[in-house]
Amino acid sequence: MKNKLEQLRQEALKQLEDLKESKSLKNQKEIWRALEIKYLGRKGQLSQILRQIKDLSTSEKKEVGAFANKVKTEIAEAFSEFENKFLSSKAGQSQVDMSLPGKRSSLGHLHPITLMQRELEELFKSLGFSILEGPELESDYYNFQALNIPEHHPARDMQDTFYVNWEDQEDENKLVLRTHTSPVQVRAMQEFGAPLKAIVPGKVFRNEALDASHEHTFYQLEGIMIDKNISISNMIAVMKELLKGIFKEEVEIRIRPGFFPFVEPGIEIDMKCRLCQGQGCPVCKQSGWLEVFPGGMIHPNVLEAGGIDSKKYSGFAFGLGLTRLAMMKHGIADIRLFNSGDLRFLEQF
Ligand code: DAH
Repeated sequence: MKNKLEQLRQEALKQLEDLKESKSLKNQKEIWRALEIKYLGRKGQLSQILRQIKDLSTSEKKEVGAFANKVKTEIAEAFSEFENKFLSSKAGQSQVDMSLPGKRSSLGHLHPITLMQRELEELFKSLGFSILEGPELESDYYNFQALNIPEHHPARDMQDTFYVNWEDQEDENKLVLRTHTSPVQVRAMQEFGAPLKAIVPGKVFRNEALDASHEHTFYQLEGIMIDKNISISNMIAVMKELLKGIFKEEVEIRIRPGFFPFVEPGIEIDMKCRLCQGQGCPVCKQSGWLEVFPGGMIHPNVLEAGGIDSKKYSGFAFGLGLTRLAMMKHGIADIRLFNSGDLRFLEQF
């Protein structure tokens, strides 16, 4: 029996020694656990031998018993030493398994609206426009009043507005989530004066009933050009150039009169709907045309609000639906996809 015990001792220690060579920490742990059960477990080999001791004679019991205890302690110590040194010590934990395949970290990419915005910024930069920003939380004054839309003017109904702190504020300081990027027109005039060529891309907010083409949050891009002798033909030329730049081909447009209190005259530039090729679909409200650039000649009242002499200078302004343009460009039929966070949609860009 002593021989058996000695054999067991040697075998257990040898297996532990071999295990030290193993490269994979995960495997090492698993094998260590299995060996521990094999040698030290209740049904393990050592227990089996120990159970037979009771059948020995008294003198043998004493001798073999003492030896068995020694072997058991030695094996147990070897196992716990292995655990401390190789499995749970700092060195063990930080051990990198070089044999495992690496994890590729996936990089995201820019949102389709951001891509559209950057493309337009490049185009306008090439035409000599600068790029400006304005606050998303805007005063009633800049959002409406400075744009020739006084309190109670019916034109306010065109833009369902999210008012903020309606009760507490003085009229002029009443805050709104800007309903369009147009307030930056007057801010820019006040800051830079004339002549001025600038665009303002940005987020705008409206209390809309949601459907395939209306969201509460969307993007516009405002543009203004102010100088001596600017006329509506300058605007049409810039718009045509722009559409050509975006769609890489001549785009069919039509021009209609349009009303906005901050321009006179006001126009609407429509482009042929590219989703249905002018046949009519839900996105173009079955008309075959999409309003892309509303704009016109900046109203003298607005120039004056911006501190610019309206007798000396004239200019045009337009507000383009950045979100809508991205829909046209990529053939996206539902505006709600942009903010849905749906990767199946986003990963296409
Ligand atoms: N701000 C208008 C809107 O959101 C769009 C617009 C119309 C902007 C005419 C302009 C403009 O600059 O001249 O509905």
